Amino acid sequence: MSTNKILLVDDNHGQRITMESILKKSGFAVVSADCGLAALSVVEKCVQEQEELTAALLDIKMPDITGIDVLKELKQVYPNITVIMMTGYAEPDYAIAALNAGATAYVLKPANIEQIKNLLNQAIEHKRLQEENMAMSAALIEWKTKLEKKVEERTGQLKDAHKLLKNLYEELKKNFESTLEVLAIAIDQRDPLTYSHSFRVTQYAQEIGKSMDLSPKELEKLRYAGLLHDLGKIEIHETILTKEGSLTSQEYEMIQSHARGTFEILSKFKFKSSLADIPLIASSHHERYDGGGYPNKLKGDDIPLLARILAVADVLDAITSKRHYRTAMPIDGAIAIIKRETGGHFDPKCTDALFRMNAANFIQVHAADFLEKCEMSQIIELSPYTLMDIFNASVSPEPSEEQKKALQLFYNFYQGPVPERWSDTITPAKDFGEAA
Ligand SMILES: [Fe+2]
Repeated sequence: MSTNKILLVDDNHGQRITMESILKKSGFAVVSADCGLAALSVVEKCVQEQEELTAALLDIKMPDITGIDVLKELKQVYPNITVIMMTGYAEPDYAIAALNAGATAYVLKPANIEQIKNLLNQAIEHKRLQEENMAMSAALIEWKTKLEKKVEERTGQLKDAHKLLKNLYEELKKNFESTLEVLAIAIDQRDPLTYSHSFRVTQYAQEIGKSMDLSPKELEKLRYAGLLHDLGKIEIHETILTKEGSLTSQEYEMIQSHARGTFEILSKFKFKSSLADIPLIASSHHERYDGGGYPNKLKGDDIPLLARILAVADVLDAITSKRHYRTAMPIDGAIAIIKRETGGHFDPKCTDALFRMNAANFIQVHAADFLEKCEMSQIIELSPYTLMDIFNASVSPEPSEEQKKALQLFYNFYQGPVPERWSDTITPAKDFGEAA
């Protein structure tokens, strides 16, 4: 803690000695000077010795330089010093000049000693508070710097941890998805004619879902439910799954039981909470919008929306693919059946979205294997048309040249028979049968 040194400057010897003596007796540390220049020497010495002056009592009129000159010098060196000006006469010009130069008080001589002591004590307290304030500011700055460094370090650690967790999550998600894909392959491979069925249903469902503006989270759930929708077929004997011709009612019931089987198997999976309804969605793909489906005869909006989408995608793939008991259907027949069943089997919102599906996107899913041998540029030519455009072209009694072109393009790739009325003019897909 610094001492509170007071500078007393007065050319009146008697008054200076008296004041110095009284102040020292009152506990103040006083250094004195008998003129302005002597005062500046004291200041210079204090600076050299790195001593601070807390306050100064300055006579104004002195033989060499005035107290105001000393005040200005003092303020240069010690900006926070308290300076009390003393004068024998009340001269407003001096008072104004002194206050303008930074004096704290202006007192008349002979000075009231109690007033002086009060002013000096205030100066000492003021300096103490300033020092305390500076110390606190320094501590605050140090604390802030340390805190900022800590926050920076912690932020870096959190970023690293987040990155690690993200990578781990991506890895887990990849493993989870590949497990689902393997399961989907296992289901589809039980019957060569349903090869890739689960993948195609999943992709049609994604196209429909996107057209219905589903969120990325919902699309992800739809994808998982699509891959697993027929999981219950794992429990059905292959002789029934691959039976040629029509099924007995008992066999048909067994086939239908796969929906409940899907629910039971998937209920054993530990899905995270956001995917907890996958068992219900996947197992409801045979529910009908009019309530006549299975396994729970759910109706309308009681059927999860994603299951209603899967129902359309599932039937679309079933009727556009070859089965043991029938051939694949031409596209006009397939769309006609789905149109007819809209509002009965299917939710109109879902079939509308299906009809808006881009014909090129449909072909890329429907004939994925066959397309490996085709020119992508040809498929892209189908992009301007929706499935409904293709349907309208195929049922139109007098199709336009544009419609004829669309149909010709479509049946270059479609893995199903060309409708009778077009068979003379349209060449069907070359590898039909091989890739169906
Ligand atoms: Fe199914």
